[in-house]
Amino acid sequence: MNIAVLGSGTIGQSWCALFLAAGHQVVAYDPDPAMEASIIRFVNASKSALQSLGYQSAGTLERFRFSPSASDAVQGAELIQENAPEKIDVKHQLFSEIEPHLDPRAVILSSTSGITLEELQAGLKDPSRIVIAHPFNPPHLIPLVELLGNHETDPLVMGRVRTFYESLRKVPVELKKSVAGHIANRIQAVVWQEALHLAREGVASLADIDKAIANGPGIRWSIYGPNQLFSLAAGDRGLEGFIEHLGPSFQSWWSEAGRIEFDSRTLEIVREHVEQSAGDLEAMKAYRDELLLKILEAKNAVSKGEPEK
Ligand SMILES: NC(=O)c1ccc[n+]([C@@H]2O[C@H](COP(=O)([O-])OP(=O)(O)OC[C@H]3O[C@@H](n4cnc5c(N)ncnc54)[C@H](O)[C@@H]3O)[C@@H](O)[C@H]2O)c1
Repeated sequence: MNIAVLGSGTIGQSWCALFLAAGHQVVAYDPDPAMEASIIRFVNASKSALQSLGYQSAGTLERFRFSPSASDAVQGAELIQENAPEKIDVKHQLFSEIEPHLDPRAVILSSTSGITLEELQAGLKDPSRIVIAHPFNPPHLIPLVELLGNHETDPLVMGRVRTFYESLRKVPVELKKSVAGHIANRIQAVVWQEALHLAREGVASLADIDKAIANGPGIRWSIYGPNQLFSLAAGDRGLEGFIEHLGPSFQSWWSEAGRIEFDSRTLEIVREHVEQSAGDLEAMKAYRDELLLKILEAKNAVSKGEPEK
């Protein structure tokens, strides 16, 4: 498939690496010409991780071209993954530049984290051909892609988009309506708020709260989400049995959950944590990436046998 990647920073480069690894033809555009070399470095650097995840064409650059023009990059492209800066006027300007050059069946997939679909559509003459396809960083490794269309979206487009990401072995989830932060970032935000709240209340240090998450629920969450996990935790009656058993406790914890601001007290706790946990950031990143790859490899290997629901 011919794919255009518009905006080749953190997210665009990572998408390029994955699309190429999956055997697609990729033309990338970025107004900064230095990004061509940057994409090539990224594709080379991500080769071994993508190879170990089974992408046959990982690291290949034969089907890659960098274009200094957005309108040229989208010529003949069936899909356009848009990763321009998170500013509505920049995205609209880009849309008005490319729209006259799009193939009739071309679909724009926006990586936006926070701009609504309606705001994006306002910059297009044909709003039916854009979908939000929000990745989790880095998109070449993390499977989740959050999809959102609306009443303007061509009904066939959502199906095509879902099939495309599944063909890359991504895990697309579809939002039924627009909400700030989509799904996963909203959940992360609530968990982080409670972590900071507990530290503010003197219950535990941020370091211990991180340990509690990473060595407890975090490990299980990479297998199933809380709804599925809890339905396995109360015998034959599944999730309803769990609610009967532990629902009242959860309800009391919900009522005590904190709402905090990034005020001076929170920032003081964060500063203290940064001082106490200072370490070799590069070594920590390498550890994170090594373990992430092992988790993804394990999920690939074992999920072949994941039970049907
Ligand atoms: N960084 C993340 O963790 C993350 C995660 C998910 C989604 N996103 C979304 O992805 C998009 C890109 O974010 P990023 O983190 O890669 O930003 P970035 O700043 O790393 O990259 C943006 C790139 O766009 C280029 N650019 C500038 N003007 C442009 C234009 N007119 N047309 C095309 N490209 C242009 C810049 O030169 C830069 O290379 C945003 O919409 C963001 O919300 C980011």
